Amino acid sequence: MDVRAWNREAWDRNVEKGNRWTIPVGPEVIAAARRGTWDIVLTPTRSVPKAWFPPLVGADVLCLASGGGQQGPILAAAGARVTVLDNSPRQLGQDRSVAEREGLALRLVEGDMADLSGFPERSFDLIVHPVSNCFVPAVRPVWREAFRVLRADGVLLAGFCNPIWFAFDPPAAKEGVFRVRHRLPYSDLECLAPEERERHFGKDAALEWSHSLEDQIGGQLEAGFLLTGFYEDVAPDDPISAYFPTLIATRAVKP
Ligand SMILES: C[S@@+](CC[C@H](N)C(=O)[O-])C[C@H]1O[C@@H](n2cnc3c(N)ncnc32)[C@H](O)[C@@H]1O
Repeated sequence: MDVRAWNREAWDRNVEKGNRWTIPVGPEVIAAARRGTWDIVLTPTRSVPKAWFPPLVGADVLCLASGGGQQGPILAAAGARVTVLDNSPRQLGQDRSVAEREGLALRLVEGDMADLSGFPERSFDLIVHPVSNCFVPAVRPVWREAFRVLRADGVLLAGFCNPIWFAFDPPAAKEGVFRVRHRLPYSDLECLAPEERERHFGKDAALEWSHSLEDQIGGQLEAGFLLTGFYEDVAPDDPISAYFPTLIATRAVKP
């Protein structure tokens, strides 16, 4: 199965459906960012600490799998030179619409987060990678590519899912029953029959993988990064978040 093609269509449809992660920021957010007042998220609710960012003005920033007209336009308005890479043309279209509306220079690239071969080594000072690697079957290539395209002292800010989230049976969890069902690492393709997947998540939902913490955190370390920051967050619309933080954010530096 062509996962990229499936998830491209799924995210294009998410734009039509008005999924929260496809709604571009408004003019007031861009105006404030131009005045130096801004924040972005890697996970649903907590703002990334300001101390996690290198100086932004003139910095080369890659917003990785980060379409939707959110992080990219804000960082561009704050003075960075921003490239947004995403697999969904419609998600990139959201960034384009903000850039045109606000007169912002954004470079938009349709591509795969696991293959940054279109960028030379040492192209960026900062990579902003909000929760999205659940949509690829293997995450270690993403960390390796991020390391390659960052300059020395470059910073990788990443959000990802706590894999334990995927162990629970989603329909039962919707009813408030938290039943452990799936052996990790979870894969939409291997853990659910297509009919069941369709019944629970809809016919055209994006495909997801849980990944292990060894791949998420160990994978960043193995790629050569030093981890310098960590926090957890919740998904307020998911009942399981009342019991434990379902998302993680990390700051890593290329030494
Ligand atoms: C939850 S959204 C994240 C973007 C959003 N701006 C945010 O704040 O979280 C997930 C994004 O990952 C993108 N995506 C999924 N698979 C991808 C892949 N293989 N390569 C690049 N982007 C991908 C989707 O198109 C979607 O825009």
